[in-house]
Amino acid sequence: MTDVPRSADRYDRVQIILHWLIGFILITMIGLGLFMVELPKQSELPAGEESVRAFYFLLHKSIGITVLFLIVIRILWRLTHKAPPMPASINKWQQRAAGAMHWILYGFMLALPFSGFAQSMFSKYSTKFWGYPLPRLMEADSAMRAIYTDLHQALAYVFIGLIAIHILAAVKHYFAKTGIVERMSLR
Ligand code: HEM
Ligand code: HEM
Repeated sequence: MTDVPRSADRYDRVQIILHWLIGFILITMIGLGLFMVELPKQSELPAGEESVRAFYFLLHKSIGITVLFLIVIRILWRLTHKAPPMPASINKWQQRAAGAMHWILYGFMLALPFSGFAQSMFSKYSTKFWGYPLPRLMEADSAMRAIYTDLHQALAYVFIGLIAIHILAAVKHYFAKTGIVERMSLR
């Protein structure tokens, strides 16, 4: 027997699977994004050496557009399926803060791929989705590209901070044995 309250109020299967799948992909995307921007551009390499930068950029874009589909499905699912009620032991302000934080996270989950997609559309390179060139929705425009690059980067940095807070909250709940972590556990 475990002394952790095992509430019957758990997120449904779809929400649990999408939470962990999307969470894993997004953390991978952050690592990939931070890694790839440090790679040398072709023009910075000695003659004859090939840059692998484009490969990782294309990978980042393809995974990013794919996860956007999963995120949209998740949000639509969530809008039509309520979160399980929180245990009464969690006080009202904490319940409200958690609820607000979760919708802020959803906002960032949409804003990140959209800003990345916009920066990619405004760039002079064509955007490919797993090798297939996507139709150009905007004319190449270096000023607009720069705006969306800065926005994408700023959103990514704030998102890293929000995820850190979210994970710390989960760790706190785990050790305080509130039963919250069990609501989203894969078991
Ligand atoms: C899905 C969630 C996404 C996350 C979490 C994410 C995260 C990141 C991060 C952390 C960086 C590095 C920022 C820096 O230090 O400069 C980055 C850069 C970049 N991302 Fe994303 N990204 C996402 C989606 C996308 C999508 C969908 C696209 C395009 C279709 C995209 C295109 C880019 C590009 C082109 C850069 C490099 C910008 C530059 O030239 O400095 N990203 N991303
Ligand atoms: C990129 C990473 C992550 C994102 C974007 C994310 C996002 C979210 C969102 C939006 C919710 C609210 C679900 C809803 O009510 O609709 C949630 C719930 C939850 N997350 Fe995450 N999550 C991430 C990673 C993690 C990690 C690594 C952990 C554990 C260490 C975790 C633990 C939880 C738990 C326990 C809940 C349920 C909270 C409750 O009962 O209300 N998450 N997450």
